[in-house]
Order: sequence, then C-alpha cells, then structure tokens
Amino acid sequence: MKLFLDTANINEIEKGLEWGVIRGVTTNPSLVAKEGSISFRQHVKKIAEIVKGPVSAEVISMDTEEMIAEARSLSSLDPNIVVKIPMIQNGIAATKKLSSEGIPVNVTLVFSPQQALLAALAGAAYVSPFVGRLDDIGEDGIGLVRDIAQIFSIHNIKTEIIAASIRHSRHVFDAVVAGAHVVTLPFNVLEQMFNHPLTDKGLKKFLADWEVYVKHHGN
Ligand code: E4P
Repeated sequence: MKLFLDTANINEIEKGLEWGVIRGVTTNPSLVAKEGSISFRQHVKKIAEIVKGPVSAEVISMDTEEMIAEARSLSSLDPNIVVKIPMIQNGIAATKKLSSEGIPVNVTLVFSPQQALLAALAGAAYVSPFVGRLDDIGEDGIGLVRDIAQIFSIHNIKTEIIAASIRHSRHVFDAVVAGAHVVTLPFNVLEQMFNHPLTDKGLKKFLADWEVYVKHHGN
C-alpha cells in the first residue's frame, strides 16, 4: 500500500518526501486555490518533477470533449500526471477515451460502490472514495472503502482505490485495513501518524536515565 499527500503545498510535499514515506500527491481546485497567485500548470509541473510519482491534477470542464482536451494538455506536462475527472456521466465518457489513450485517470468524488464500479469499468486507473465527507453526513466512509475493495477483489478489477477526504490518523489505519491501495492524506494527518504519548514518555525516561548514568560513570 502507498501513502500520497493531499496537498498542493510544495513545502509539505518536500517534507513528506524527505521522510521517505510519500509516493504521490493528489490535488484538487480547492487545494490549488489555497496556494494563492500561482500558475496552475507550472505549479502542477513543478510538483510532478519533485515527486517523481503519480500527481493527480483535476480538470475543470464539465463537457466530455472539453474534459478530454484539458486532460491531454495536463498530461503533456509530465509523464507522472494523473488526470482527475469528476464522477459524472461526461466524466465517465472522458475516462473511457483517456484510458484508451494510455492517460491514467483518477475518478474523484466517489460516494458509492456503484460509482466506483462504473469508473473502473470505464478504465480508471484510480477511484477516490471520499471517507471524511461521508462521515460528515452520518454515513460510513470506511464502509464504502471496504465495499469497493471487496467488489474489486471478487472481480479481479485492477483499478486502485485511493481513500480520500481523510480527517485523522484513525482513518488511515481503518482505510488500510478496509483494503485501500492508497491513502491520500493532508499533511497534518501525516504528522499525527508519528505521535504516541508512550513514545514521548519512553524517550524522556531513556534520556533522563542516560543523564544519571553519565553523571556517575561518564560516557
Ligand atoms: C481527493 O483527492 C481530494 O483532494 C480530497 O481528499 C478532498 O478531501 P476534503 O474532504 O478534505 O476536501
């Protein structure tokens, strides 16, 4: 399984890569907008050059032909660009065409197993079920990941599941157990994954004991 960062922030991406645990990045229009006055295309290209792994960049068009043109143009920026296409009828038609051309597609805004199945049948390389947003409305986001994983496994479907809209580190654990191939997480959740109070307590004790030892015996 793999971890991706769900961000368009270069500092966060560089930090995640430095730790050696990040294999890709997902962006969306909201995340890009947070970065202020940047050129979207140049920014995505820069991210792809840094990451050297799959980087999802989302199309804005809603019409099939326009989505295809936008996707081809994004894909030409870097071989690692994965085009993010929304889970709508025109998006699925675009997914079919782009996948047949060898352009990898991440179908986004997936909220049901039926949507995931349609995306996979159209040839999507990835589907992105949104865990947190389902939880927000009182539904079971992790249950959705589990259902999709079961369907894909029973039917030997190669599309990878990216668990998205991750809110906390428990989501990461649950999504991995539920069968997600990838979890894309905000930087603050990646930081959360490091933490355990017993690690801090244990380290404090080791250092305190070492100080006592040095005091009596030197080092
Ligand atoms: C997926 O690729 C999306 O970028 C994402 O995870 C959105 O999550 P949000 O609900 O935190 O906006």
